[in-house]
Amino acid sequence: MGELVVGIDVGTTKICTLVGEVRADDIHVIGLGVEPSRGMKKGVVNDVNELTARVSAAIHKAERSSGYEIGRAFVSVAGAHIDSRNSRGVVGISGTRGVQIADLERAMESARAIALPHNREVLHIIPRNYTLDGQDGIRSPLGMHGFRLEVEAHIVTAASSSLQNLQKCIEGAGVYVDRFILNPLASGEVVLTDAEREMGVLVIDIGGGTTDLAVFIDGTVWHTAVISVGGWHVTNDIAQGLHLPYEIAEAVKVEYGHADTTEIDPSDVFIVQPFGEEHMSRVQRADLAAIIQPRVEELFQLVLREIKYSAYDGLLSAGAVLTGGSAQLPGMKKIAADVLKMPVRVAKPERISGMADQLRHPSYSTSVGLLRLGLIMEREDERRGRAARGGFRVKGEGANGSSGGGKRKTTNWGKLFGGVMKRLLPEDEN
Ligand SMILES: Nc1ncnc2c1ncn2[C@@H]1O[C@H](COP(=O)(O)OP(=O)(O)OP(=O)(O)O)[C@@H](O)[C@H]1O
Ligand SMILES: [Mg+2]
Repeated sequence: MGELVVGIDVGTTKICTLVGEVRADDIHVIGLGVEPSRGMKKGVVNDVNELTARVSAAIHKAERSSGYEIGRAFVSVAGAHIDSRNSRGVVGISGTRGVQIADLERAMESARAIALPHNREVLHIIPRNYTLDGQDGIRSPLGMHGFRLEVEAHIVTAASSSLQNLQKCIEGAGVYVDRFILNPLASGEVVLTDAEREMGVLVIDIGGGTTDLAVFIDGTVWHTAVISVGGWHVTNDIAQGLHLPYEIAEAVKVEYGHADTTEIDPSDVFIVQPFGEEHMSRVQRADLAAIIQPRVEELFQLVLREIKYSAYDGLLSAGAVLTGGSAQLPGMKKIAADVLKMPVRVAKPERISGMADQLRHPSYSTSVGLLRLGLIMEREDERRGRAARGGFRVKGEGANGSSGGGKRKTTNWGKLFGGVMKRLLPEDEN
């Protein structure tokens, strides 16, 4: 049995818990638990009790599916409270051994020293590139000689209260939050090719309540953002426009929806029962598309505004990659390409084995990405020797904010697999 990793994607539409076994060159998914989400709006918690119950249900399903008890997990985060910026850090290098890991750490600490209001915290700090004695564009300066090391880092920050509320729900379900990971970084990890990341690409994860963006250039993250518009808004427009209950509008969108009116045959009709009417009525698919298209165009206009604001719009040679549940709406690719004026493709998670039939859909990009990126981040921490500061907990301790796992912290990957999970299945207990 290999090492295990767990990811919980707490979305506005669904909560997805995955249990993965780490193998030589991939992560093999051995457990899956999906539960419709409640208690979240636009990526932030608005009902702790409701969300805790849903998270708990998704976790139990994944436990039954994998045969393991889940004690800790990587957890996705999005929402309008997310902010990002770039920052520079500078340090002097001494000695003749060249740049050491400790020097990189000091440079990152210096970049991290940004003025943050007391109610915000750093979620990620990602090195973009280094400059050594004025020579810029260095990817890894380790071992190189010089006196002055500069790092340019991308820093993602979040509202502490939003993270605390989410943490409360996960811990209320008896699971310790190992690390929060920004949605589009997780998705990017499993939908992009290495060539795209090098050339410059925009990941657009369109979920239910949010659209999450990440710009990758030169193989690393240059910009991230979250827009509080997603598939929920499209469904809501349909509910309002056709006078339908939300659930019916959702079914109509998935069955007959299209984002591009020019693709629809005017003779194409379907039948629904609007509010206040005794009989079913006929609706032209073109009329449905005419409701959907403006909202989708507006969404991509917001995306365009965000990347123009970031000033990286001219650097995205590989274009945009759409993922997330709403990327499955027919016509999205065309509208995205028209508005963004760049090549667009729709992607589902790759780099995955196990349960592929269920997981190879755009809705699962974040969930699958959490396993991979969580593992990479932990390994990176371990490499830098920052791990092993505790955080080891058997399920049950520290839930509801009590001792043990009450605080998010860096954890020792090696210890994690020693004690946090145990087999639930009777045949495996002996
Ligand atoms: N076949 C489909 N056609 C159109 N839309 C779809 C389809 N399948 C799912 N969706 C939409 O995808 C959205 C859910 O996507 P996803 O599962 O990625 O959301 P989420 O991760 O729960 O939400 P978020 O990331 O915004 O918090 C819903 O709005 C749903 O209507
Ligand atoms: Mg999502």
